[in-house]
Amino acid sequence: QTIFILNGPNLNLLGKRQPEIYGHDTLADVEAACARVGAEVGLDLRLLQSNHEGQIVDWIHEAREAAAGIIINPAAYTHTSVAILDALNTFEGPVLEVHISNVHKRESFRHHSYVSLRADGVIAGFGIEGYALAMRRMGSLLEA
Ligand code: DQA
Repeated sequence: QTIFILNGPNLNLLGKRQPEIYGHDTLADVEAACARVGAEVGLDLRLLQSNHEGQIVDWIHEAREAAAGIIINPAAYTHTSVAILDALNTFEGPVLEVHISNVHKRESFRHHSYVSLRADGVIAGFGIEGYALAMRRMGSLLEA
């Protein structure tokens, strides 16, 4: 089974972008860490990143056929995107929401997530380890 790991705007700069908040690891490091867990729990993954809301919506539609579960860090779209929430509501498998930083410790506009209305679980503030933890949880949720 394949998991889509979707990443929203500015996460292509992970490792370079505000490292005091998001750390020095890159999206390639995230992919490697998730692949390690995937090998343990028997899941393949496709890690994708876009700065464009509609592209993320399109990937969620693709996931309807191609993925057993979705791990998503919608980045700033977390706090704004009804379109991403609506797309996730068309997906039948488990959805896990990941935030690298602890959004609840930050500005109040980061405290509300549209995506949390659909997510089966949320991880925030665990750094990039959050993605690997979400992969492990996907393993449990999808276990036959
Ligand atoms: C983020 C938190 C969001 O508020 C922010 O807009 C991001 C990244 C995180 O991973 O901590 O771009 O989703």
